[in-house]
Amino acid sequence: MRKKIIIANWKMNKTVSESIRAVTELKNKLSGKQEVEIVVAPPFTSLHPCEIAISGSAILLAAQNVSEFDQGAYTGEVSANMLLDIQCEYVLVGHSERRTIFDETNQIVQKKLKQVLEYEMSPVLCIGESELTRKAQKTFSFIEEQLTECLRGLKEEDLLTFVVAYEPIWAIGTGNTATTSQIQEVHGWIRDFFEKQYGKALGQAIPILYGGSVSETNASEIMKQKDVDGLLVGGASLDPERFVNIIQHC
Ligand code: PGA
Repeated sequence: MRKKIIIANWKMNKTVSESIRAVTELKNKLSGKQEVEIVVAPPFTSLHPCEIAISGSAILLAAQNVSEFDQGAYTGEVSANMLLDIQCEYVLVGHSERRTIFDETNQIVQKKLKQVLEYEMSPVLCIGESELTRKAQKTFSFIEEQLTECLRGLKEEDLLTFVVAYEPIWAIGTGNTATTSQIQEVHGWIRDFFEKQYGKALGQAIPILYGGSVSETNASEIMKQKDVDGLLVGGASLDPERFVNIIQHC
C-alpha cells in the first residue's frame, strides 16, 4: 500500500518564533498515532528551530527549495547536504511559484532533483498546468514535457523515494480547487506515465499528492480519489488548528 502524506507548505510566512509556536501546537494536537505522514515545510530560517521543536514527534521536516549546486561560491544558496544535516526528509522541488516567479526551468529542476537524491532525501516534484494551458486542452502534453525533462537521466532506483505533487497553477491560492474528477484524471495519467516509463511496480508505488486550495471542506473528497495519496497544503496549513482539521478529515 502506498503511504499517505500531508505536507504543510508555509511558503514565505512565519518568523522563527511563530514557526516554533505553530509546530509545537501541531505536535500537541497530533500526539496520537497518525495514519498519514505529517510533514511541515517552513521557510529556511525556521527549519533548524522546527527540527528541535518536533523532536520526539512523528512530524517530519521538508525544505521548500534547494540549490542545484553541491557546495561552494553560490552566495545565498542552501545545499542539499545542509538540509540533510538538519534532518530534512523531504524537499519540494519545482514549485510553480519557483518556476513562474524565479524562472526555474525544467532543466534547473532536474539538477535540483539530482542533488536531493544524491543526499538521500525524498524529492517532492511539483508539476501542473496554467489556466491557459488547460483551456487550450494541452494539460497532458504540458505535464508530459515537465515530467520528461525533469526526470531526464534518473534511474529506476532514483525513483524509490520519489513523490510527485500535482498542483494546477490556477488552483493555487485562488480558492478554485480542481474538481475531484479533474484531479483523478490527471493523477491517473501521471501514474500511467510512471508505469510506462519505469514499470508497473514503481508506478504503483509512487505517492502522488494534490495541491491547490485544499481546505477542511474539500480534503476528504480529494483524498478518496483512487490515485490521490496525499495533499500539499498552502494557505490552510498556516493555522495549526485548520491543518489538524484537514488531517482529521483524511
Ligand atoms: P494553496 O497552496 O493551498 O494556498 O493553494 C498550495 C501550494 O502552493 O502548495
